[in-house]
This record gives sequence, structure tokens and C-alpha cells, in this order.
Amino acid sequence: MATSSPPIGIIMGSDSDLPTMQRAIAICETFQVAHEVAIVSAHRTPERMVEYAKTAHTRGRKVIIAGAGGAAHLPGMVAALTPLPVIGVPVATRHLQGLDSLYSIVQMPRGIPVATVAIGNAQNAGLLAIQMLASYDQVLQERIQAYRQSLTQTVLDKQHRLETIGYQSYLETQN
Ligand code: RP5
Repeated sequence: MATSSPPIGIIMGSDSDLPTMQRAIAICETFQVAHEVAIVSAHRTPERMVEYAKTAHTRGRKVIIAGAGGAAHLPGMVAALTPLPVIGVPVATRHLQGLDSLYSIVQMPRGIPVATVAIGNAQNAGLLAIQMLASYDQVLQERIQAYRQSLTQTVLDKQHRLETIGYQSYLETQN
């Protein structure tokens, strides 16, 4: 979304993270919150990462979502360089299924927190970023309430369908 200073920065270590990170982007679009998307690698573009992290707050960012896989240093290193809150997304990996990413991101030392979501759950990262902004934005708070209501309604609709057609037909139409 093009504005001069989007409040949410979504960064990832590689374009191979984009299929995961797109869910955070989609949440920003759903909530109509401006965001920037960038590939910033801690290992392959370390100086770009330092520049990004050190200037993010001066460029109007309020929260950063950082996704990475494997030896996933990006969220923690960015957190060390910015006063902004950082939400880490452990991206699933082929050999260790993202446990490596999870441990790399969640096990931050005292003093430099990274709010880490579940492996691959960029959607929750997007929601958490929106909720942080909503602390000071009543319109966003109302959108979050509406979103939660839609989640509730989805479950109630499923329950109604389960009761109506029975579990066997339900299972058949699930696949
Ligand atoms: C990390 O290495 C990236 O975040 C990505 O998850 C992983 C693999 O990157 P590619 O080799 O696919 O570019 O830095």
C-alpha cells in the first residue's frame, strides 16, 4: 500500500519466505493499514539490515514484522538495532521443519525481546501488529472486534452445518 510512511514494516530474509509472509501482508490489506514489504537478509545483506533497522523509526514505522528461516538472525538483530517492537515469524524449513527458525527467533537474551509467533503463522504476526497500533486507534479497535466476531460466526456456521448434515457428510465435503 503506497503511503509515505506506512506504520508496519514487513521484512523477510529471502524471497523464499514470501509465500509464508504473504499472510501478514494480507492482514494489513484486510485492516486497511499501510505497510511496506522488503527483502532484508541478516546474512546476505547485513549492511542493508543495519540501515533498515536503524532508520525504521525515523521513517514512520511503528512496528516491524520480520520473518526468517534456518539460522534466523534477522528478527533478533533488527530488534537489537531499533527501539520499535519486533514480531518474529519462524519460517518452516525443509530439514528441521522450522524448529531451527523457532529456536533462533524465540530464544532472545534478556533485554532485547522479539514477540515470536508460531512456526509459519505470519497471519498472527499481522494481527499482533494491528493490535499494537490499535492501542492508540479506536477505528482499528473496532475493526479487530468485527474480525473477532467474524471468527465466532464462522465456528457457529460450521456447527450449524454439522448438525444439519451429520458428521459423515461433513467429513466427505471437507476433503
Ligand atoms: C534465510 O534463509 C531466509 O529467511 C530463508 O528462510 C532461508 C533460506 O533462504 P533461501 O536460500 O531460500 O534464499 O535467510
